[in-house]
Amino acid sequence: MGEAILVTGGAGFIGANFVLNWAEVVGTPVINLDLLTYAGNPASLDALRGDEGHLLVHGDICDGELVAASLREHQPRALVHFAAESHVDRSIVEPDAFVRTNVQGTFTLLEQARLYWSQLDEPDRSSFRFLHVSTDEVYGTLGPQDAAFTEETPYAPNSPYAASKAGSDHLVRAYHHTFGLPTLTTNCSNNYGPLQFPEKLIPLVILNALEGKPLPVYGDGGNVRDWLYVGDHCSAIRAVLDRGQVGETYNVGGNSERKNLDVVTAVCDLLDELRPDAAIGARRNLITFVKDRPGHDRRYAINTTKIERELGWQPAKRFEAGLRQTVEWYLNNPAWVDNVRTGGYLHWIEQNYAERLAR
Ligand code: NAD
Ligand code: DAU
Repeated sequence: MGEAILVTGGAGFIGANFVLNWAEVVGTPVINLDLLTYAGNPASLDALRGDEGHLLVHGDICDGELVAASLREHQPRALVHFAAESHVDRSIVEPDAFVRTNVQGTFTLLEQARLYWSQLDEPDRSSFRFLHVSTDEVYGTLGPQDAAFTEETPYAPNSPYAASKAGSDHLVRAYHHTFGLPTLTTNCSNNYGPLQFPEKLIPLVILNALEGKPLPVYGDGGNVRDWLYVGDHCSAIRAVLDRGQVGETYNVGGNSERKNLDVVTAVCDLLDELRPDAAIGARRNLITFVKDRPGHDRRYAINTTKIERELGWQPAKRFEAGLRQTVEWYLNNPAWVDNVRTGGYLHWIEQNYAERLAR
């Protein structure tokens, strides 16, 4: 077994940030298995072009033979699993791909990892890790006064996305319990930062506001999310990979609960300051309340006591500073933005928002 790690979904938002951070902070080789769906973008990894420490393998995590060959050939010391269908709204329109990639794909990885791991000799067998990156959405929704999610909160997924992630979490748990596969699971809150595909709230609002387009806020805008800067999520995953207790799960969050309407307003004010436009005027006026997401979870909040106490991890970035940096990143990277807003993206925007905005 070498010092390489196998990452899945490393051309997506969090995966690409993780791979870039890994190259900077750790520097050991990364094999990056990614299907390059609409959400995967090799341009996000341009900084690693020509770097022998990064190998992008274009392929599907549901392809057992490909996964087996990648493990056999590269002999990784760990598998860090990001690949997923990740957008709740898409899971409501077309759930099939979520069950396939998130459940069947995770199962395929677990099964191939088990076969690979079971043939390792000590001490490699004991030190191998399968780290599964999951979400706080598996815990369902909170009322305004409810205590934040802990690792003991019962699962109650509400969307097809959340249910498919819950299914994958249960498979990971079972592979540890039944076969002893050395697994780790992280359940994280909403990420934001550079390289996020502009179907998610923050980048969608930045780009619409920049162009003076309506800013679609679902329902009354009072839903609450616990925002975490993506670089902090990456450092949490490194901490869990390094020092996490095998078989355990760790909740990861930003201690930054915000109402959606407050997030959207903050983006408007930042853009008015950084890129004022007399023809558009105050961007808060672009806010448009639209038909709610079916089954929309009201509030998520993460209790980070376990990862802080056991692994000494804390989020480093305050939300206001991270949001400013994120807005600046989108302003400074128009080529990346143009590259992802292609035909498929325009089709999704039409499909999800045309009727909502016509009301
Ligand atoms: P993303 O949608 O931006 O990226 C997903 C990546 O997976 C893409 O590169 C895509 O090409 C790849 N992929 C999809 N299907 C694949 C398949 N069958 N085989 C190989 N690759 C495939 O997602 P993200 O926001 O970066 O999320 C990454 C992970 O983190 C997901 O597992 C998600 O559930 C979890 N997560 C995300 C957040 C968040 O706020 N974005 C929060 C907590 C947890
Ligand atoms: O909590 C972690 C999860 O966070 C991850 O597991 C998911 O992969 C990730 O997509 C994210 O899910 P959300 O559904 O919370 O993120 P999204 O950006 O889609 O929406 C954030 C909030 O903003 C949510 O309450 C819905 C609302 N929203 C979203 C969009 C796209 C709007 O009001 N308008 C919009 O146009």
